[in-house]
Amino acid sequence: MKKLVFGSFNIDHVYTLPHLPEKGETLYTESYELHEGGKGLNQALSLTKASGQCCMAGCVGSDGDFLLDILDRHGTDTSLVMRVPGFTGHAVIEVDPDGQNQMILFPGANSEITEAYCDRVLSCFSAGDFLLMQCETSCTAYMLEKAKKEGLITAINPSPFTDKIFDLPLGCVDYFILNEFEGQSLSGAEAPREICEALVEKYPGCRVILTLGGKGSVYYDGNVYTECPAFKVKAVDTTGAGDTFTGYVFTELLSGTEPFAALRLASAASALAVQRQGAAVAIPDRESVLSFLDENV
Ligand code: RIB
Repeated sequence: MKKLVFGSFNIDHVYTLPHLPEKGETLYTESYELHEGGKGLNQALSLTKASGQCCMAGCVGSDGDFLLDILDRHGTDTSLVMRVPGFTGHAVIEVDPDGQNQMILFPGANSEITEAYCDRVLSCFSAGDFLLMQCETSCTAYMLEKAKKEGLITAINPSPFTDKIFDLPLGCVDYFILNEFEGQSLSGAEAPREICEALVEKYPGCRVILTLGGKGSVYYDGNVYTECPAFKVKAVDTTGAGDTFTGYVFTELLSGTEPFAALRLASAASALAVQRQGAAVAIPDRESVLSFLDENV
């Protein structure tokens, strides 16, 4: 089974602040760092670090080569990435002392993805391969529908959550991976178990992986329901923790690991990620995740 992440590339401008700004407030930042990011890039890197194999497709502008470098260095296949003139997408990320953030996104090249490009990428994959998408690029609906028709296993992380998500052909989704807010918005339910059940009822045959931040994560496939607590660590920056979790949990589930163990390994990976600044650069390798698990039985 080949694994494909079809998604965004962002240049992350990360500012640490004494607190997140109020409306009309001006703040000096305590530090500024520039990092590789984008939900697509982060998830592709996490899948690569977790499983050793992943292809990333998406679009960068003329200033985006260093984003490809981090993927190339770790062995992600970037041969299908499209380059366009103009700016790569970027994110302005403000981080408070508890590691919580708020973000502004400029889509840039992420909005240059066309149906012809989706066709070209899909022609390199076949039935039984795995496709993971997020919602930071153009043509998400087209790609999802076509991939499902061609027999790929489809997963979507409906993030960032906007009303446009309701226009997607969500009946084509095999796996939803989403946080509590996204789950509540999509299902209309409140509590984790109800969210999962409502989604499986609305989109029959799908599986749901729900992340709950410090409260842990859950898995539901219409039959098995499993909850896994989070590891208690001091967060420095939670940006990209969900992306780290995503790469690790899919690596495990797709290789047949039972759901609780998959959630636990992915939780360990994101517990390590939140202790470092940045998104992609904070994704731990598999060896560190396994050591963390050994030390935290
Ligand atoms: O999920 C974290 C990511 O969201 C950041 O890297 C930022 O680029 C945005 O896409």
